[in-house]
Amino acid sequence: MAIERTLAMIKPDCVKKGVIGETLRVAEEAGLTPIAIKRTRFSRQQAEGFYAVHRERPFFGDLTAFMSEGPVVLIVFEGEDAIATWRRLLGATNPIEADEGTLRKRFGTNIERNGFHGSDAPETAAFEISYLFAGLEVHP
Ligand code: CMP
Repeated sequence: MAIERTLAMIKPDCVKKGVIGETLRVAEEAGLTPIAIKRTRFSRQQAEGFYAVHRERPFFGDLTAFMSEGPVVLIVFEGEDAIATWRRLLGATNPIEADEGTLRKRFGTNIERNGFHGSDAPETAAFEISYLFAGLEVHP
C-alpha cells in the first residue's frame, strides 16, 4: 500500500445531475482526501489535449465534443492506493457493466457519457494532474 494521488473528474452529464456533493461524500468515506478541487469548462482543444492518448480511437470526436459541452469538476484525491480505490468506486467504464452501488452504475448514462473519469496508472495521474492544476492549487 502506498499513498498516491489520482485525478478524478465529474463529467458534464453528472455535473448537470447535481451529484458533486454525493461524489465527494462517497470518496471521503472510502478514505480519499480531496487536496484540490476546481470547477471549469474545457474548450474542445483542451479536451483533445486531456484525451490525447485516445486520438486515434473512433469515438475521439464524440468524446471531446461531450467533454466540452458543459462544466466539469476536477478533483485531486490523495490516499492509500488512491488510483485503484477511486476506480473501484467508479465501477466499469460502461455503466451497464458496472457493479451495483458504483458511481457509474448509479449516475452514468452510457459508455461515452459515463459520468466520471479516474486516472488508470501513476504516470497518467501525474500527467493529468499537471495538465489541469498549477502547483499552488494543490494542498495536501
Ligand atoms: P474515461 O475513463 O474518461 O476514459 C476515456 C473515455 O472514453 C471513457 O471514460 C469513456 O467516456 C470513453 N469511451 C471509452 N470507450 C468508449 C467507446 N467504446 N465508445 C465511446 N466512448 C468510449
